[in-house]
Amino acid sequence: MYDFRPAPDTPKPETYRQLLDAADALTAGEPDAVANMANIAALLWDFLPDLNWSGFYRVVDGQLVLGPFMGRPACIRIPLGQGVCGIAASEGKTQLVEDVHAFPGHIACDAVTNSELVVPVARDGHVIAVIDLDSPKPARFDSEDAAGIEAVAAMLSTRI
Ligand code: SME
Repeated sequence: MYDFRPAPDTPKPETYRQLLDAADALTAGEPDAVANMANIAALLWDFLPDLNWSGFYRVVDGQLVLGPFMGRPACIRIPLGQGVCGIAASEGKTQLVEDVHAFPGHIACDAVTNSELVVPVARDGHVIAVIDLDSPKPARFDSEDAAGIEAVAAMLSTRI
């Protein structure tokens, strides 16, 4: 049994240290990318409060295609450069969106989402996927969340 959840009221930097260790332990030595993305989606969901979606979009034939996730069913294909995920993938840069309703081109997969964090996963200088977190809470994510998820993305670079 895996029980990685941090204690309630754990400070964010410590939460992300534990999250990175757990993500490493879950994916080390496992070559199957789908299994690794599925476990990381579930781990993010377990670790981080106030989420309504956590998961992956993968770059496939020049567009983003839905990968393993937790939450409600979502848009399957997103063109690069469109929506928060498509922009993160095309620019190769984390997108921290305090208010999705103010983000031009935001793609609403679930009406309850108010804020979003999207972090690219790169391998050999190319974006291969993005990690997407959605929250019903306005401004749920800050620079500590971005840094924490970027560390997970870097670790996953050769494991998905
Ligand atoms: N909101 C994203 C689409 C993916 S869903 O949030 C799961 C976007 O604008 O790219």
